[in-house]
Amino acid sequence: MIAKVIIICVCVVGALGKVTPDYFPQCKRSDPQIEKCVLDAIEAIRPRLKTGIPEVNVPALDPFTVPTLKLDKTAPNLRIKATVKHAKAFGGSNFRVEKLRLNLNNKYAAEMKIVLPKLSVVADYDVRGSRLLTLDISGKGKLRGNFTGITVVAKGIGKPVEKDGVEYLQVEKVVTRVRINHGQVAFDDTERPLAAASAATFFNASPGVVLDILNPLIEETSAVVIKAFVNKILGAIPIKEVLAD
Ligand SMILES: *[C@@H]1O[C@H](CO)[C@@H](O)[C@H](O)[C@H]1NC(C)=O
Repeated sequence: MIAKVIIICVCVVGALGKVTPDYFPQCKRSDPQIEKCVLDAIEAIRPRLKTGIPEVNVPALDPFTVPTLKLDKTAPNLRIKATVKHAKAFGGSNFRVEKLRLNLNNKYAAEMKIVLPKLSVVADYDVRGSRLLTLDISGKGKLRGNFTGITVVAKGIGKPVEKDGVEYLQVEKVVTRVRINHGQVAFDDTERPLAAASAATFFNASPGVVLDILNPLIEETSAVVIKAFVNKILGAIPIKEVLAD
């Protein structure tokens, strides 16, 4: 009797192909200059970042939209409880990457320093029972603000997760340091217009003081937004297409 060995080649992975468009750059895990590869990759897709890359879940960067943010923070001189809706930031696509460090030895760790020359922000806010210094800053309305000289240092740790038999990279933790050189704000408040006008006058007279007090809130919120942004993209691209072996 002749034993027959039937080898069935299930080339599922091959048949599925890759999800990233052809212009999407790829870096090799073993590349000794992987940071340079990633920086070049960012520059290669920069023109498309403004409007986003829907095929791989990259949201539009300019304007960058955050539908809803719930803020709840107590810090020195600050107690804030707020809902921010329809936030839009203009100018994000002019970012410069000043530093990138990757550590891919048995882990996924990254540190990136980004400079944004200017960011204009509009948002609807609803602030309850909040104060900054001795100022009651509760109110509801529209905020407009211009911020310049923004530096963000973000550090993140990622890990592979499996979804339908495919491995993706997801960020577990992000911490940021944010520094904003200058800011000007205006409020269009429907509840307490006079109090909002004096809050704006106070901010605009000493933006550095107010931004310092708001900094723990700004850093925490940036970390939340960056983590969601990165995970949305990485959740659409299998690890082997982000980092080739
Ligand atoms: C932000 O800058 C724009 C254009 O430079 C200006 O028209 C607008 O009034 C500024 N907004 C605030 C709140 O200062």
